[in-house]
Amino acid sequence: MTEHIHPIFDRLLQRSDRERRLGQRSKVLWLTGLSGSGKSTIAQHLERYLYNNGFFAQVLDGDNIRSGINNNLSFSPEDRQENIRRIAEIARLYLDSGIITLNSFISPTVEIREMARQIIGPEDFLEIYINAPLEVCESRDVKGLYEKARAGQIKGFTGIDAPYEPPLHPALEIKTDEQSLEESVEAVFQFLKPHIELP
Ligand code: PPS
Repeated sequence: MTEHIHPIFDRLLQRSDRERRLGQRSKVLWLTGLSGSGKSTIAQHLERYLYNNGFFAQVLDGDNIRSGINNNLSFSPEDRQENIRRIAEIARLYLDSGIITLNSFISPTVEIREMARQIIGPEDFLEIYINAPLEVCESRDVKGLYEKARAGQIKGFTGIDAPYEPPLHPALEIKTDEQSLEESVEAVFQFLKPHIELP
């Protein structure tokens, strides 16, 4: 019936309309942890797992953000803050469009993550600590960056000569040195499910 009414006489489209169309509630999942802790791997597998279970999510990580919209930013404290500010604004747009985002960024300080929480809105921001000891991340050294940081070829590397502050009250903590990838993805999925299911 309402299709015949000119849109100007109908109410404007809202987030809840988009969520209903997509069959989910949108949320912002925020994965924080050291480089090499497994954030992006978990996010990428979770993205597929959610899709297979009828949910629609988008990973935001260094690959599609730092290489694109944020390619003018360094790893200085100021630029990390600007990196996270822009990402939080992007996640907020996705949120309003009804799409879940899986944000995988070191986001190294309590203050930086608090800024993201405020931009997104505390009720939609779900903080997950991807925890692996520095020694484990360093031994993995997927990109060889820890070796370079130890050799002084990279300055201000998180965990080596730049700070990482673990979340004080994460909604969920995953220990990737104790839990397999499969267990980690399953744990995050089970945590997330009640937040994204429509009533
Ligand atoms: S931040 O702190 O949230 O702005 O960092 P993020 O955008 O997540 O980018 C982290 C990835 O960039 C690579 N890299 C560095 N990380 C930390 N410190 C320094 N100095 C640095 N230089 C480059 C590193 O590979 C991180 O990748 P991940 O995926 O986290 O392992």
